[in-house]
Amino acid sequence: MIPDTLHEFVADMSPSVAVTATVGLLMLLGFLTFKSVSSDNVLPGVPELKGVPIMGAMPIYLKHGMPQLLGKLIAIGDDGISYANVVNNVLVSIHDPAMVREVLAYPEEIASREGDPGRMSWSPFWTLRRLIGNSLFSYVGPETSHQRNVFIREFNSTKSNSEKFDTITEIATVHANALTSEGSTAEVDDIKYSADNFAIALWGEILYGNPNHHVGGRVLSLSETIINLAGNPWPSVWYSFQLFLKLVTPGEPTRSEAKLRARVAKVVERNIGKLEEHERNNPDAPLKTIRNLSVMTGGGRTGPLSKFASEFANLNLFGGHHSIGLNVTWSLIDLDKHPECLAKLMAEINAVDTTDFTNVNSKMPYLNAVIMESNRLHPTVHATLRVINREITLASSKKPVVLKPGEFVPERFLGGYKKDQPFMSFGYGPRNCVGYKFAILAAKVYLVTLLKMYQMDVKDHDHEMKLGTLLETTKPVAVKVSRRY
Ligand code: HEM
Repeated sequence: MIPDTLHEFVADMSPSVAVTATVGLLMLLGFLTFKSVSSDNVLPGVPELKGVPIMGAMPIYLKHGMPQLLGKLIAIGDDGISYANVVNNVLVSIHDPAMVREVLAYPEEIASREGDPGRMSWSPFWTLRRLIGNSLFSYVGPETSHQRNVFIREFNSTKSNSEKFDTITEIATVHANALTSEGSTAEVDDIKYSADNFAIALWGEILYGNPNHHVGGRVLSLSETIINLAGNPWPSVWYSFQLFLKLVTPGEPTRSEAKLRARVAKVVERNIGKLEEHERNNPDAPLKTIRNLSVMTGGGRTGPLSKFASEFANLNLFGGHHSIGLNVTWSLIDLDKHPECLAKLMAEINAVDTTDFTNVNSKMPYLNAVIMESNRLHPTVHATLRVINREITLASSKKPVVLKPGEFVPERFLGGYKKDQPFMSFGYGPRNCVGYKFAILAAKVYLVTLLKMYQMDVKDHDHEMKLGTLLETTKPVAVKVSRRY
């Protein structure tokens, strides 16, 4: 039950407008709009998810979280759009690619991730900011484009990714080998954890020179905690409640959030210690990535990191591990279900030198098609949110949308990805993903390493998608791995 005080507060909140983009089931794309309303006839002709009087869909949100509420909205929005009243706001889900693109292309003044802290205190991006502080995710304004450029140079450029390739291959090999250690076969309870650990170790090594980043599970547990809290409505409710009672300053973390922030700071501090040790022991080695990002944003070659690099260190504890891990996991599930695709991929893997960056990055069209198709069908970041700051007409909303079933056909990506295809697994518009190419490269390398080394048998064939903060599997992905050599 929701306390009366809280109910009053929620009902009292200034109306605001938000939009959430969802890349949902069957690769539909969705949006949620929270909009100032006083009547229920907000979007005539658009299907409405009926909630309870006054609270609207708020109880569904509180009981099941935003991803589940989204799932319900997608289910009723046959034309790619649906909505629910949430107290005095309206939550609109748009899952039509044209509409999603239109909203994601809006400039910050019209649509941003967070909105005003007082008015949109429950936004998942606000929770994230309170947990890990500022980051590129939350910045708006001129500083943003500078920061995006730094990221893009480091993670989306062929040159910088080619420099990281040997490290990715090395870490992938160590982690693939560890699945069976000395033996020839092994039963892996959940390949997701192995894939996540590969990604965690990879980040540890490339950022700080610490390939043992995953050991002890601290980073994994911290990362999971942050992801879950960001997708959970209760931290926002608790924060709103404290804000109402003036127990917390707008935008500042609550006490429990501050505790978690301190844990993040501790892990980062330990990593910096490793970085300094690496720098002392290898004075002539190229800069590790976090130092490089720091130097690119005004920091020194030793000593404290720049503000930007420190913020990325915090952001990294939340993002980039599980998303890469899930990419590999979903690809394995899809390939297991489609042996003819796996056979084509294996033929390609066996025909080229996969220790060569250019091959893996851009000369293995079928590998690329598999990763793209897996991302299209199972987009890890299945939803995002935009707060509408200025009224705007959704010009594309009148277009009828043809819904197509989601079949796994990597061939659609052979010949490249065309800009007019509704593929938005890495976002779209001015705030799309700046780690796209690095993530794809890391996923490719680990997938290729696993497939070369092992025959992988995904045990169950009924894995379904579960809308969590990220796109999860409904249950662990048990795999039998048998060495090929
Ligand atoms: C499979 C892995 C990944 C997926 C599916 C993914 C997906 C996305 C998506 C959909 C967005 C846009 C969110 C929105 O519109 O609100 C985004 C933004 C972003 N991503 Fe990724 N991402 C991945 C990996 C990475 C990696 C490895 C990095 C780090 C290098 C990264 C850094 C970022 C940053 C900083 C933004 C915010 C950009 C901005 O606000 O201007 N991502 N990502």
